[in-house]
Amino acid sequence: MSYDPEKWTVSSNDVLSISIADDDGYTSFKPAFTYPIFGDSEQIFGYKDLKINLAFHYTTFLPFLKVTYSEKLNDEVDDVKDKMLEFLPASTVVDDEQLWVETFKKEKVERGELIAKLDEYAVYKYGFDNEFAVELNKRLQILVLMFIEAGSYIDTSDSLWSLFVMRKDDTIIGFTTSYSYFKYNGGEEFDSNKAIKRRNKISQFVILPNHQNGLHGSQLYQAVINYWLADPEVQEICVEDPNEKFDDLRYRNDFKRLFEEGVLSNLPSSISKLDEAWFVSNAASHKLELNQFKKLVEMGYLYNEN
Ligand code: ACO
Repeated sequence: MSYDPEKWTVSSNDVLSISIADDDGYTSFKPAFTYPIFGDSEQIFGYKDLKINLAFHYTTFLPFLKVTYSEKLNDEVDDVKDKMLEFLPASTVVDDEQLWVETFKKEKVERGELIAKLDEYAVYKYGFDNEFAVELNKRLQILVLMFIEAGSYIDTSDSLWSLFVMRKDDTIIGFTTSYSYFKYNGGEEFDSNKAIKRRNKISQFVILPNHQNGLHGSQLYQAVINYWLADPEVQEICVEDPNEKFDDLRYRNDFKRLFEEGVLSNLPSSISKLDEAWFVSNAASHKLELNQFKKLVEMGYLYNEN
């Protein structure tokens, strides 16, 4: 047997395949990241012809895991199946595809609170006092590790987390989690106003790769933002560590909303005519962070100039 390390080393991104199974077959794609599971080098040592197949059912996301290889170097190398299972829920069906099919056929989708309907697409909100939501999040969360750099799992025992899921009929298109902080505006206001005020933060946001670039990310974002804009408890909306693509999506959607509402389409002739109080009060009335709002106003001037 050859011990040439190169012959026994593979890229974990290459050998892992994620599939979504629906009634017609499978749609497969590769993960963007596997370092949270297999380490920074994203390599797996000790196997030949290694294949890791992770499949999900398209409505309930029941996971199915199958690991195959032609040779294993010895019993000391990491067990790939065990490594994957550390990040998957206990409900994951391993190896037995027939059992997986029988199990998902028996499962029922619970849709949660309908917050937006967009033709045949809909967005549902779940709190984690709902067992279905806790289990669904356990099934979805490995995608956070595999598609969001520095993504991590959330603690669903904290009731301030929520889950929003976008579906086309029952098919899952994408999801986002959010955290709702209490917003403390200082003692004076707190004492004079007993109403609860919140600062809601979008934390993890994923559109499944087979549904990306169809504006579903924008639709899910708008659904969540409109839901919070209509909620008098929510005072400010923010996003945790957005990446470049998400920033792009957020600016495009926030800009469109403020433009249509007349804030950015009716700006005074020069930005120097706007004082800090105008920025503070308009940012607050649109539930935006001050810096985010200032950037949107700058974009408004650039847009109106052209
Ligand atoms: N006119 C022209 N083009 C448009 C318009 C428009 N009105 N609206 C959107 N687009 C283009 C965008 O420019 C973008 O193109 P690009 O990829 O070249 O930048 C493309 O359409 C995508 O926009 P959407 O369809 O609205 O977004 P999508 O559904 O693809 O979702 C997302 C975007 C969420 C970033 C998705 O790619 C994803 O899940 N990626 C992996 C996970 C991730 O990175 N999540 C965000 C992490 S940050 C966080 O979680 C807070």
